[in-house]
Amino acid sequence: MRSIKVKSPANIAFIKYWGQIDGDLILPYNDSFSMNLSGCFTTIDLQVTRSKKQELYIKNYKSKIFKKAEGPALEKVLKLYETTKVYVNAHTNFGFKIYSQNSFPKKAGIASSASFFSGLALAFVTAFGETLSEKDLSILARLSGSGSACRSIPDGFAWWHKGQNGSSSFAESKAPSEYWDLSDIVLILNYDEKKVGSQEGHKNAATSPFFQHRLADVEKRLKDIDQAFALKNFRQFGRLIEDEAISMHSVMMTQRPPLYFWSGHTVEVIKKLIELRKTGIEGYFTIDAGENIHVICEKHNEEELVAYFNKQREVKDIIVNHPAKGARVL
Ligand code: DP6
Repeated sequence: MRSIKVKSPANIAFIKYWGQIDGDLILPYNDSFSMNLSGCFTTIDLQVTRSKKQELYIKNYKSKIFKKAEGPALEKVLKLYETTKVYVNAHTNFGFKIYSQNSFPKKAGIASSASFFSGLALAFVTAFGETLSEKDLSILARLSGSGSACRSIPDGFAWWHKGQNGSSSFAESKAPSEYWDLSDIVLILNYDEKKVGSQEGHKNAATSPFFQHRLADVEKRLKDIDQAFALKNFRQFGRLIEDEAISMHSVMMTQRPPLYFWSGHTVEVIKKLIELRKTGIEGYFTIDAGENIHVICEKHNEEELVAYFNKQREVKDIIVNHPAKGARVL
């Protein structure tokens, strides 16, 4: 029996991917830009077995035991196995047991499928005895169905080029993790798993009357954030990520059927963050497909922000992240 161990980070998108031009090839309407998270990652142990069985075991956040997973979770894994086999042009099959564990709650707007599927793509390629370029691995991770997984392959800060076809849509590193000492303070307001997966959401994004408007806006925001990032202009950067989060959630709430990821607590915490900013402690929020909030700040404000949010009744847990490397074989 051979065991392949992989670690892969979740990522937080500053400019988001929402909506697919092509749902089979997972081609987005716009480029997106993210940071890999040091404290939110998936560790996978892929054990290649002699048997033909292909099994998945998951240990949830704060749980002590691995539970066998079946249904849609296993189906997605088997699909990525088949996609990888074709992608690396392999001709033999292998049985496996996958043991996957997260350092954070899954399906709660912290990109658990991005860390899992980026890691799994790397693990399968390695198990087939192959190595791929970073670009090709990113494409394979995108094809897992969880498109944002492609951004967890390169190191540090990743830019996903939307591309025009299957082979030109991939993520690459815009800067290594050391480039900018940013923190992502994840405020966990609710551990519950979201009810509608992003895949359903992407399909209906264009039904929002604001979607076309958002696309035009995003193109401008991508240019602006590129500049703010190059200059490390944090205030400008922060304003852009908040505008972006509001833009994506406006589309989500107005698409058909609508998706309301925010809770009352989400709004309360946003208001508190804005008030706190008036005292000179600069943190800016962004939110993915969930009610939990990511507060982005520069390292020197991290301690104060953590201390403040630790005291807020809406906040159940906090995970502090710094920019991290991409998926790795351990
Ligand atoms: C809102 O299709 O990559 O996080 O498969 O649920 O992880 P999952 O999502 P995916 O869409 C991610 C959407 C987003 C924004 C983003 O990360 O760009």
